[in-house]
Amino acid sequence: MNIAIIGSGGREHALCQKFSESKKINKIFCIPGNAGTSTIATNLETNLLNFKSIKKIIIKNKIDLVVVGPEMPLVNGIADYLKKEKIKVFGPTKFASRLEGSKAFVKRLCSKFKIPTAKYKVCKNFKDVKLFLKKNNFPVVVKADGLAAGKGVKICNNKSELDSFCKKIFSGKFKTSNKLVLEEFIKGEELSYFVIVDKKTFIFFGSAQDHKRVGEKDTGPNTGGMGAYSPSPLLNKHIEKKIISRIIRPTIKALKTKKNPYTGFLYAGLMIKDDNPYLIEYNVRMGDPECQVILPRLKTDLTTIVLAALNNNLSKLKIKWSTLKCMTIVLCAKGYPGKYQQSKPIKNLRGLNLKKNLFVFHAGTKLVDSNIVSNGGRVLNVASIGASFKKVRLNLFKLLKKINWKNGFFRKDIGWRVIKK
Ligand code: AMP
Ligand code: GLY
Repeated sequence: MNIAIIGSGGREHALCQKFSESKKINKIFCIPGNAGTSTIATNLETNLLNFKSIKKIIIKNKIDLVVVGPEMPLVNGIADYLKKEKIKVFGPTKFASRLEGSKAFVKRLCSKFKIPTAKYKVCKNFKDVKLFLKKNNFPVVVKADGLAAGKGVKICNNKSELDSFCKKIFSGKFKTSNKLVLEEFIKGEELSYFVIVDKKTFIFFGSAQDHKRVGEKDTGPNTGGMGAYSPSPLLNKHIEKKIISRIIRPTIKALKTKKNPYTGFLYAGLMIKDDNPYLIEYNVRMGDPECQVILPRLKTDLTTIVLAALNNNLSKLKIKWSTLKCMTIVLCAKGYPGKYQQSKPIKNLRGLNLKKNLFVFHAGTKLVDSNIVSNGGRVLNVASIGASFKKVRLNLFKLLKKINWKNGFFRKDIGWRVIKK
């Protein structure tokens, strides 16, 4: 069959790579893709929110199955639209995508179904903010309500920081909404927990930990993710039981009772504190860069898994994982997550002659006159799989040295929790 992956980041390159290993797949298309995907898929340029144009592309290229990578088209209803057009699509509906699209929606769901999460208040103005501060101490977490590509969250340590960030949101800087959510700060360790969901059941789809802050020792502003590793040593049978019974199962049940069953990948961003999981956020897709460390460990054919989910047959499937460790380091453009330069050539990618355990997933690149140039803040994700995180990271450092991109930087401490010196 022919498949199309929607999106243009490292996650989509990793998805294309995995689908290219599937015997069930004939041709792969990536809409719009990047320089990396163009080596294994046919890139097709269009605006991801122009569903009509995407439909035309799908019909013209005889595409049988569409897998949606990023949240934006899902939150805007691409799955509903394509399904209506009788096109097979993997990803949640617009309603179910509110799990990611609206922090206020998730918080209300948590309250109603007793899902453990940080104490919160949805605020429309400074009067609401004041009420929350009466009952809660600093630090306080401020979140813009709509989608903000990982940049709509700030941990505020004092009133002036809080006031200035709230002001930005109330005045509409985060275009999707001018509401915000204030949250109690939970001090713990973060875990990304993934499931794949059909209308009847769900199956574990990997665990990972990522590093969201731009600076070493987890300092500086939040980013889309600077690196990740899988599996997470935080996950054990005992904690997983709590995650499933207290968080995943009640959420999936809640959406069913709202007559909007969830299908697709579901990513729970959790904080683990005193051996208990708290929901920090839901994402209605695979994580980026978590996907790049989960898929290399997947041993079961990904097409078989996605088709089983679409046919509500996941309960009959056993997904197999490698016991090896996988890590990715994100090579960013200097200046990210602030201002950075675009279209800078990356010369040393061709002829790298990668061994089987090494991957270079392109996150923000494009081809200009058959040269690879940067096209975003997170540019490349180098990934590797091996017996220990320590060895894997050394392999990544060697690879980054070969790439030697003068316009970029990366964190040298990815995985510091799992690599003791
Ligand atoms: P979110 O977009 O909700 O995942 O928030 C981005 C990041 O902010 C998370 O990955 C955490 O590192 C941090 N964060 C968000 N909410 C909280 C919270 N209630 N307590 C502590 N840290 C948080
Ligand atoms: N790595 C964070 C995210 O995908 O949202």
